Amino acid sequence: MDLYEYQARDVFEKYGVPVLAGIVADTPEEVKAAAEKLGGVVVVKAQVKTGGRGKAGGVKVAKNPEEAYEAAKAIFGLDIKGHIVKRVMVAAGARIAEEYYFSVLLDRANRSYLSLCSVEGGMEIEELAVERPEALARIEVNPLTGIDKAKAVEIARAANFPEDLIEKVSDVFVKLYDVYKGEDATLVEVNPLVRTEDGDIVALDGKVTLDENASEIRHPEHAALEDKDAADPLEAKAKESGLNYVKLDGEVGIIGNGAGLVMSTLDVVAYAGENHNGVKPANFLDIGGGASAAVMAAGLDVILGDPQVKSVFVNVFGGITACDAVANGIKGALETLGDTASKPLVVRLDGNRVEEGRAILAEYAHPLVTLAATMDEGADKAAALANA
Ligand SMILES: Nc1ncnc2c1ncn2[C@@H]1O[C@H](COP(=O)(O)OP(=O)(O)OP(=O)(O)O)[C@@H](O)[C@H]1O
Ligand SMILES: [Mg+2]
Repeated sequence: MDLYEYQARDVFEKYGVPVLAGIVADTPEEVKAAAEKLGGVVVVKAQVKTGGRGKAGGVKVAKNPEEAYEAAKAIFGLDIKGHIVKRVMVAAGARIAEEYYFSVLLDRANRSYLSLCSVEGGMEIEELAVERPEALARIEVNPLTGIDKAKAVEIARAANFPEDLIEKVSDVFVKLYDVYKGEDATLVEVNPLVRTEDGDIVALDGKVTLDENASEIRHPEHAALEDKDAADPLEAKAKESGLNYVKLDGEVGIIGNGAGLVMSTLDVVAYAGENHNGVKPANFLDIGGGASAAVMAAGLDVILGDPQVKSVFVNVFGGITACDAVANGIKGALETLGDTASKPLVVRLDGNRVEEGRAILAEYAHPLVTLAATMDEGADKAAALANA
């Protein structure tokens, strides 16, 4: 789960990372009031979960509350890479002398943690990494020992911080690692970390990604950080039913058992769609091993709730859950859903007790259900139906 900048700011503060005062606001009037409260120069910052807000006009400096009000009017409603700004943070203005970059993240490929750091922050770090990789220090962090003071000094030196700043910035790195570890994050990024004209080191921006696997048991308090409004309503519904569902942008709804099978089903459907006016998969949905009627009904219900869906492809390989159980699951689901099930369903069954499973569906002879013998045939039929 990604946090908004204002949430990251609050978490930073809790761990003693130096941040500036910030007040969230949902209307230009609230922005004006926040600017009055903070006094002096403020920065109005769009709160959206995507990068490049500054470039898109989502970060504006205001010298007084009137300017803050005008800035807010320009920022609210702004579309930043498909994210509409509904909330801003009014932050105290910093007098910036220099901008740096620091991050610590989970390095899956190396089964380790990695810290990236540069004295050239502020700009897009991806560009720096490509154009001048030598300006971005990459230091492996041992997960067992983390970033202690010595490691933080090593990172600061590798990033070419001047000797007189090493003490101060390394203290901040240690605290940022405390956030990373203490909150079970997979990313803590600060861009820019600044030196102010007064010589203070301050985190002016923060990106934090929390590991959702740690949320339920280790961090029940993280539930409060979840953004229920921004979540896709279908994804939220699927989550409530405990389904592994990701909404995509196509027309063919997909249900399968096992993440690998579902992933390849997406590929096969996308490929088949090329012969049918370019229709594409509408979602990822893995109903897992126990394809019971209840799980099948919940899955179908979510998929049929997507107005973009024109047909559904159920691709199940019977293993521990045999095909006859799956067939009964589909039958039960269609009975449960009744008139809600209004879109054609292509079903491909294979594996354990496949003949019995097919026989159940053949006998049931539901007008919306078509059986397919193979995955390719099923994908083609579902794509054709979506294009009909
Ligand atoms: N509180 C502040 N005071 C003064 N300047 C600020 C403040 N916050 C941000 N800035 C300036 O605005 C620039 C952009 O801000 P910020 O890093 O928060 O957004 P961004 O990098 O454009 O967005 P993102 O990090 O989402 O890509 C900073 O590099 C900094 O120069
Ligand atoms: Mg930034």
